[in-house]
Amino acid sequence: MCGIVGYVGPRSALGVVVEGLRRLEYRGYDSAGVAVVSDGELHARKKAGKIANLDAELAAHPLPADGLGLGHTRWATHGGPTDTNAHPHVSYDGRVAVVHNGIIENFAALRTELGEDGITCVSETDTEVVAHLLAQQVAAGVDLADAMRLVCRRLQGAFTLVAVDAQGPRQVVAARRNSPLVVGVGEGENFLASDVAAFIEHTRDAIELGQDQVVVITDSDVTVTDFDGAPAPVRPFHVDWDLSAAEKGGFDWFMRKEIYEQPKAVADTLLGRHDENGRLTLDEVRISEEELRRIDKIIIIACGTASYAGLVAKYAIEHWTRIPCEVELASEFRYRDPIVGPTTLVVAISQSGETADTLMAIRHAREQHARVLAVCNTNGATIPRESDAVIYTHAGPEISVASTKGFTTQIVACYLLGLYLAQVRGTKFGDEIAALMGELATMPDAIARVLEGMDPVLKLAADFAEERVVLFLGRHVGYPVALEGALKLKELAYIHAEGFAAGELKHGPIALIEDGLPVFVVIPPRGRDMLHDKVLSNLQEVRARGARTVVLAEADDHEVLPYADVLVPLPQVSTLLQPLVATVPLQMFACELATLKGHDVDQPRNLAKSVTVE
Ligand code: AGP
Repeated sequence: MCGIVGYVGPRSALGVVVEGLRRLEYRGYDSAGVAVVSDGELHARKKAGKIANLDAELAAHPLPADGLGLGHTRWATHGGPTDTNAHPHVSYDGRVAVVHNGIIENFAALRTELGEDGITCVSETDTEVVAHLLAQQVAAGVDLADAMRLVCRRLQGAFTLVAVDAQGPRQVVAARRNSPLVVGVGEGENFLASDVAAFIEHTRDAIELGQDQVVVITDSDVTVTDFDGAPAPVRPFHVDWDLSAAEKGGFDWFMRKEIYEQPKAVADTLLGRHDENGRLTLDEVRISEEELRRIDKIIIIACGTASYAGLVAKYAIEHWTRIPCEVELASEFRYRDPIVGPTTLVVAISQSGETADTLMAIRHAREQHARVLAVCNTNGATIPRESDAVIYTHAGPEISVASTKGFTTQIVACYLLGLYLAQVRGTKFGDEIAALMGELATMPDAIARVLEGMDPVLKLAADFAEERVVLFLGRHVGYPVALEGALKLKELAYIHAEGFAAGELKHGPIALIEDGLPVFVVIPPRGRDMLHDKVLSNLQEVRARGARTVVLAEADDHEVLPYADVLVPLPQVSTLLQPLVATVPLQMFACELATLKGHDVDQPRNLAKSVTVE
């Protein structure tokens, strides 16, 4: 979850790199640093804390404006967030600078070996050993690219490495294993970055790198090999995000902007999903229809908010396909010795596509010969690359650490998967699928209508500013909505919040209810058997015990009014699709409450956007 930028070209590398790092700061903000090569000399500056601290350092101690350099924003793994542990790390002879994302699992042994060579590491990090190992090679006359390939063959773990050699050719050399790295291809200049947001203001032509590859960029060329030096296949792609999409667009937070982007994100995720005959086509699902017909179990694996999207998906997929569907936290999956085989479809949901828990879980699933389908928002990310198939959400860059449009588009992608499976297996007729796709097509407008009614939610946040405990209740697909509402409050307002299955309350948690305790209740649409009435009873139970109820229900659901201290009206949608509208007020509530508390909404304490360590 670190941010990495490399540059070679006619511009000031310092300017390009620091601006690129600013767009990647969400990937980690414990420290930041840059290194520039000028006249055979290496010049590096690095500081703990956010990029603003690096800016101050650079103002006090400027760097040359030459066009070869690299930079890094860090989320600490080995070694605390200190100046010394900040990247870039420079080799013992001051010749090589390296930045790294990931974990080098055998760094201790390498550190010992370097000590035996008389080289002492000055930081607590795993990364520093790479700088010294590369320097040993280039000092012996080995080109940096060959040195990188040799060193990478010795490393164990996950890494994106980017390095420069002050006395070598004018090039930046990088390598990746289990960690993100993309190339930006410019005119007379080239870029390396953890994700495309770092360079899209300069170029939208990019190259996706594969596993165990080394890339060398010069002003004019991009060369990619495997770790043995053999030419490696690459996949060029065009980035359809422009810079404004990665900026705040006038909102106070990326999160608020991304909440309001949900109608478009959902619409974009639905785009182009059927052929001229109206049949669903998921062209990235590179699993044959015959194989999909043999699937007898689905296991959805994910973390955090993505796992709640999986819980919503379970209801829809089981109802539409009649395939048993489990939802498992990725960090638990491989430790429970899961029953997985060639007829299991593992669905990995991940906005970033780099979450280590999820990545390791799909690796385990593939070892058991399951087929793996990723639901992901990040083109070229590791998880989709290591899956048999992918359904990309098209939410655009989700910069805020708290996932919002990532969540709603994950749900939509899972609906598409469920309907596609129903089409392939014949558990739904074409007209039924078309009708459901037709209703999905109305969801962007439904979400937009909810967004037009946010004033009561903003006022509610002000009323609740001093609360220390908040509960959330839901049943059926409302239950994962309750879990997500609670998570948003935890990670943004740092309030203890808990989501419950509404029917579970009477089995213990109802003892928590006391006078004035805020309880959000998600009321299902009417018309689905007893579902609505059961949750209405749960609402009455908590209200009778003094809870201060915030009720999310269809605008004309008058039955809830006697028990609602606050009513948050929702548009009328079918039961399975209600999470797409019910979640939005909870996202906005958490965003507003955190803002009122003076928190950094986009970069909450202790969190990073993509957790690439287990
Ligand atoms: C959600 O607001 C959190 N940032 C977190 O739970 C996140 O959803 C989880 O870490 C999974 O991330 P991913 O979707 O990138 O895999």
